[in-house]
Amino acid sequence: MDLAIARVMYSKETIIQETAVYVKELLSGEGSGHDWWHIYRVWKNAQSIAAQEPEADLFLVELAALLHDIGDHKFYGGDETVGPRMAAAWLQKYDLPARVVQDVCTIIKDLSYKGAGTSSEMASIEGQIVQDADRLDAIGAIGIARTFAYGGHKNRLLYDPTIKPELHNSFEAYKASTTPTINHFYEKLLLLKDRMHTATAKKIAAQRHQYMEDFLRQFYSEWEGEHTF
Ligand code: ADP
Ligand code: NI
Repeated sequence: MDLAIARVMYSKETIIQETAVYVKELLSGEGSGHDWWHIYRVWKNAQSIAAQEPEADLFLVELAALLHDIGDHKFYGGDETVGPRMAAAWLQKYDLPARVVQDVCTIIKDLSYKGAGTSSEMASIEGQIVQDADRLDAIGAIGIARTFAYGGHKNRLLYDPTIKPELHNSFEAYKASTTPTINHFYEKLLLLKDRMHTATAKKIAAQRHQYMEDFLRQFYSEWEGEHTF
């Protein structure tokens, strides 16, 4: 009798479902806007963008969307290698082709926003889809809510008219910034609409961008005690 230990074969569907459960356990209750429900929204955004991009490998898109924030550099002292390493360690259990694990890790490594003056290139269509999906969750009503949640988590001021936004030219400078939360709109959120890759995300971003512009107009007008009636 062959005593070799039988390899468990997992379907793609099972791998996605188990990965979702793993990430949900890891990130539930996170209070800075990077919790499980952020991952859930990015996963759903990525699925609907991918539906319009027939050449994309949906399995890669879903895995990268689910695993993209498990070791976010912001929570590991700025270390950008933690995320891809944690993702690779998780995927190990499935005996996937090395190429798949490598592609998922590359997407996770390249995904993060690194400052206004830095590039947002993504090498693959799958990476472009996941980056668009993640960035859609950074803008619009949810983007506004997450940004103030993050600012509160970091004890930042809402706004200080004497502190001007900075357009960071390096990831190091962007990561080191401690400016008020309104500045983050100029340092990141309002720049995202023009950095979307797919036609679907561009269309969604245009509407969410307008919503943020309206929010800022109202915010400044309330700041000065103005009203329109
Ligand atoms: P990415 O997902 O591109 O890596 P981040 O994880 O840095 O981007 O940011 C995700 C979200 O966290 C931002 O869109 C924003 O809502 C919030 N956030 C990150 N950095 C800041 C900051 N300095 N001030 C306010 N909000 C921030
Ligand atoms: Ni994210």
